[in-house]
Amino acid sequence: MLKGIAAGVALSLLIALIAAYALLHSGLIPANADAKPSQLETWMARTSLDATLSRLAPKVPNPVALTDENLLHGVQIFAQNCAICHGSAKGAASPSPVALGLYQKPPQLATDGVEDDPEGYSFWKIKHGIRLTGMPSFGFTLSDQQIWTLALFLKHMDQLPPKVLQTWQNVKNWPTVEPYASNRNSSHDEVGNKLSQQGLESQGMHGN
Ligand code: HEC
Repeated sequence: MLKGIAAGVALSLLIALIAAYALLHSGLIPANADAKPSQLETWMARTSLDATLSRLAPKVPNPVALTDENLLHGVQIFAQNCAICHGSAKGAASPSPVALGLYQKPPQLATDGVEDDPEGYSFWKIKHGIRLTGMPSFGFTLSDQQIWTLALFLKHMDQLPPKVLQTWQNVKNWPTVEPYASNRNSSHDEVGNKLSQQGLESQGMHGN
């Protein structure tokens, strides 16, 4: 009797595995990015992320002090590494082409910010990334100190002191090639030199 039940369970499992394999190969599971995630997919991803954060995110207070200088530094690291996906001070009014095309959509943090989140949660997400989304792990390129500096900026993004706010409002979320407009008569090489002097060509390629 028990043997019969065990064989039945094993057979059902085998059929379920074969069905899952066939489904994956059928092309019926969407692989495109230009769609809205289903409620089930969003729920599963959120639940797994929340559980991971409450288990693994650091609970210590941010070791980087709340000073204008550190906030300014946070804006700079954000401009170089994050603005392309998470936007500028204009927020959802002006997302970059990359931000528009990603699946999941990266929140435009000036509009849809994380000021309410514990800083340790932001630290963990930035350091380790979020699996199966466009959110990269920056643990390979930024130091823990730099990541805490970013977490500090994110926490205070909606209440920046005037000097820091001004710098934040000048951040662009997409490379602009202004020398072309102001140097109509320059040769291509001259423009190229200007760009590399400004470090624009390598923007986003290096950690900080
Ligand atoms: C290539 C695009 C991309 C880049 C670059 C990127 N992110 Fe993200 N990020 C995402 C996406 C997509 C999500 C949403 C993931 C999800 O839905 O769970 C996300 C989520 C986040 C979240 C969680 C937001 C929330 O509402 O819970 C934080 C915080 C964050 N990113 C910070 C950063 C920081 C800081 C940087 C720069 C060091 C950065 N990201 C760079 C794509 C990006």
